[in-house]
Amino acid sequence: MFNHQRQELLLNWDLLLEFLILLALFNNRTFFIVFLLCNEAIRPSKGAEVLCEKVIAKHNASQHVLRVFMYDLPPEFHFGLLDWKPEGSNVWPDIRTNVPTYPGGLNLQHSIEYWLTLDLLFSEYSGSSKSRIALRVRNSSEADVIFVPFFSSLSYNRFSRLRKQERSSFDKLTQDKLVQYIEAQEEWKKSGGNQLWPAMFILSDFGRYPPNIANVQKDIIAPYRHVIKSFVNDTSTYDSRPILLFFQGAIYRKDGGVIRQELYYLLKDEKDVHFTFGSIQRGGVNNATQGMHSSKFCLNIAGDTPSSNRLFDAIASHCVPVIISDDIELPYEDIIDYSEFLHFCSVLARMNWTRMWRKLQEIEKYFEYRYPSSDDDAVQMIWKSHST
Ligand SMILES: *[C@@H]1O[C@H](CO)[C@@H](O)[C@H](O)[C@H]1NC(C)=O
Ligand SMILES: *[C@@H]1O[C@H](CO)[C@@H](O)[C@H](O)[C@H]1NC(C)=O
Ligand SMILES: *[C@@H]1O[C@H](CO)[C@@H](O)[C@H](O)[C@H]1NC(C)=O
Ligand SMILES: *[C@@H]1O[C@H](CO)[C@@H](O)[C@H](O)[C@H]1NC(C)=O
Ligand SMILES: *[C@@H]1O[C@H](CO)[C@@H](O)[C@H](O)[C@H]1NC(C)=O
Repeated sequence: MFNHQRQELLLNWDLLLEFLILLALFNNRTFFIVFLLCNEAIRPSKGAEVLCEKVIAKHNASQHVLRVFMYDLPPEFHFGLLDWKPEGSNVWPDIRTNVPTYPGGLNLQHSIEYWLTLDLLFSEYSGSSKSRIALRVRNSSEADVIFVPFFSSLSYNRFSRLRKQERSSFDKLTQDKLVQYIEAQEEWKKSGGNQLWPAMFILSDFGRYPPNIANVQKDIIAPYRHVIKSFVNDTSTYDSRPILLFFQGAIYRKDGGVIRQELYYLLKDEKDVHFTFGSIQRGGVNNATQGMHSSKFCLNIAGDTPSSNRLFDAIASHCVPVIISDDIELPYEDIIDYSEFLHFCSVLARMNWTRMWRKLQEIEKYFEYRYPSSDDDAVQMIWKSHST
């Protein structure tokens, strides 16, 4: 009776793609990747193909180089957080000779603002602007958008803890200072902004913000940078990857969803299924890399935030992502007998793994953050999603 609903719980790559295309149609600023996916004719079904036509038409109507005005924020908001010391009155490093490095490990997941800032700085040196997606302009009235180069994730990750005798953390103080700075700028006043509302954020998900601050109508979702190492020269075959299904994460979700626990109890004794718990810790990156590079499928259960970093790790590993999203599972929790998931593994085995593995290698470039940025890498994709 509930058969087809159960099928829907198992989202494979094709369905994910259709979902993204739909999202792109409803929301101007969603992943630009959709356009590129469509262009490369990775079209899983008739439905997706029709949707793709619409996405491409929409894109055709809106193409141009994005002109970005960037505030010359004091270094304490950006490269200063990377322990870069300014020389003289320069607020920016001379990136032709010295590119300050971003701390590794899990910090890298949230390094989007660093790559975008580097790209804007570089746009002034890169000669021809022909292949450029975004260009820094010095006059804000010529800009399409105004970029605030605050390395907020780093500030949060490193400095949000209260130290002895502090009333406010360094991060909180820095944020307050930033708001003061922005509110004092001409551009802000001209835009009529008297609260944070008109600002557009680049985010990994909407899980942490109230909807009046961040929402899908105005903001841009950017991929996490993967922490798992890229699989260079991957010559895997279905049989050469010994683990059928790999999962790494917390079993218990914050808001008490059922699916994680159920899946865990059902799958933990299955042959060739690998569960590890908690987030990847610093020293565990190598282990996790080995695990994901050796797995056919990587399970991605959307947890407390809709976009899990694990998806991007799976893509970098060419491990076919299997996504189970809360948005889909929650309505069914009361009616579905989750023991049906015992069939889970046999469903996986029937998928055309090789086809999906190839697709992953075609699309992984869209998720790479690079400096200097290159065609259709994550940096360019994020700028492109501003221009639509
Ligand atoms: C988009 O533009 C390209 C190149 O100009 C054209 O070949 C294509 O037919 C257009 N697609 C749509 C759906 O308008
Ligand atoms: C900035 O651009 C506007 C519009 O193009 C122009 O009127 C203005 O003079 C420019 N300002 C400067 C300082 O160049
Ligand atoms: C990948 O293959 C290329 C060409 O065979 C080789 O030059 C490169 O060193 C290999 N890279 C790795 C990480 O194995
Ligand atoms: C890495 O993997 C090995 C073997 O699978 C295991 O013994 C070790 O505890 C793992 N280390 C970490 C940090 O997870
Ligand atoms: C899987 O996909 C590949 C590439 O598209 C194709 O060559 C192959 O025939 C497919 N295999 C099956 C069993 O459908």
